[in-house]
Amino acid sequence: MRVKTRALVTAAGLALALVVSGCGADDGDGSSNGSGGNKKVEVFTWWADGGEKAGLDGLVAQFKTDCSQYEFVNGAVAGGAGSNAKQVLASRLQQSDPPDTFQAHAGAELSDYIKAGQIEDLSAQYKEWGLTTAFPKGLVDSLTVGGKIYSVPANIHRANVLWANKTVLANAGITAPAKSLPEFFTQLDTLKAKGIAAPLALGKDWTQQMLFEAVLISDLGADKFNGLWNGKTDWAGADVTTAINDYKKLLTYSNKDRDTFDWTDAEKLLMEGKAAFQLMGDWEAADLDAKNFKDYSYSVFPGNGDAYQWLADSFVLPKNAKNAEGTKCWLKTLGSAAGQKAFNVKKGSIPARTDSVATDYPAYQQAAIADWAKGTPVPSCPHGSACSQGWQGAVGSAQGKFSSDGDVASLQKALVAAAKQFAGK
Ligand code: GAL
Repeated sequence: MRVKTRALVTAAGLALALVVSGCGADDGDGSSNGSGGNKKVEVFTWWADGGEKAGLDGLVAQFKTDCSQYEFVNGAVAGGAGSNAKQVLASRLQQSDPPDTFQAHAGAELSDYIKAGQIEDLSAQYKEWGLTTAFPKGLVDSLTVGGKIYSVPANIHRANVLWANKTVLANAGITAPAKSLPEFFTQLDTLKAKGIAAPLALGKDWTQQMLFEAVLISDLGADKFNGLWNGKTDWAGADVTTAINDYKKLLTYSNKDRDTFDWTDAEKLLMEGKAAFQLMGDWEAADLDAKNFKDYSYSVFPGNGDAYQWLADSFVLPKNAKNAEGTKCWLKTLGSAAGQKAFNVKKGSIPARTDSVATDYPAYQQAAIADWAKGTPVPSCPHGSACSQGWQGAVGSAQGKFSSDGDVASLQKALVAAAKQFAGK
């Protein structure tokens, strides 16, 4: 997967991705976009492997039943969190060559597309399909700009989950999840003393942003963390400095080759018992299941309390989509109770609809459904619920630099500057 990822970010890779995604291609059966039946619905995601692909497959099976007059075309571009897909998508949107639908995140990331005039208002469909009351109000608000609703959410994921290899923990005599950062540092020291040189598996850019945010939640608390994104908390504050120092210390327990790793490469370290822990979103539950790895446990990141760091994959109808009617059928399916179930049982996320039945889901999601109901919601910048793509990019490069130079003051300065440039825009 890593090789594929690198190839995709080159210019040649971009062209290849466009071909792989079926963009503009006619396979000669007369049913391609724009010719005759216009049956094809190109669905653009980054769900290309493992549990992510399994989730997509579940949804596609439901689409085949509900929308048999249309044909699903897989436009997936591999790379965790859309690290490659987003570049491909941006270039297609710029060239007015959108896929029929694409995956976006509820919140500030979606607002980027709305402000750029790239996606259609779906308010009429919400009424027609009874979606306005099917989703929680807070979630619908994050899909709404100027009173219009622009997207249909497929799920709610949780970002701040600490995954663990049970055998590695047991061998080190660790029997309960750490409840605070100091406790976590003690566990990491114990693991090191037992010969696990890099007990915390970590990947590149966006995965480092996730780890840093989890530390910020622990050191600032949920309310002040929320304030970082709405201008109420100062990025220059002493508590942010403390968090950067804690994060710097955590990096010393991680694998040195982290900057070349996607999340699945870091996950492999955990599966192989070379690492004990990995902070990752709950797509990891689905992926470990898809890989038939059973020796894992999960807990909220130490010190995060009941904070539920949420993000929601949601699908849109782009302006100038070639098959708008086919896309509406896709959106209707994914917003339906059956579609949400077919997708989420396989994806590790919980349904966005409030009328779902918890017992339909695997054990992890049942626990997550209960936590979501009573937890304190906080957003995620690398997964679009907290910040725009510009802000995410600025934080990402600052953290990339920090991964090699460890300069606390310079990271904080860059975070302050990013907030000044992007907050409220
Ligand atoms: C997130 C996305 C998830 C999952 C993850 C890792 O941005 O919302 O559904 O795919 O990236 O690729």
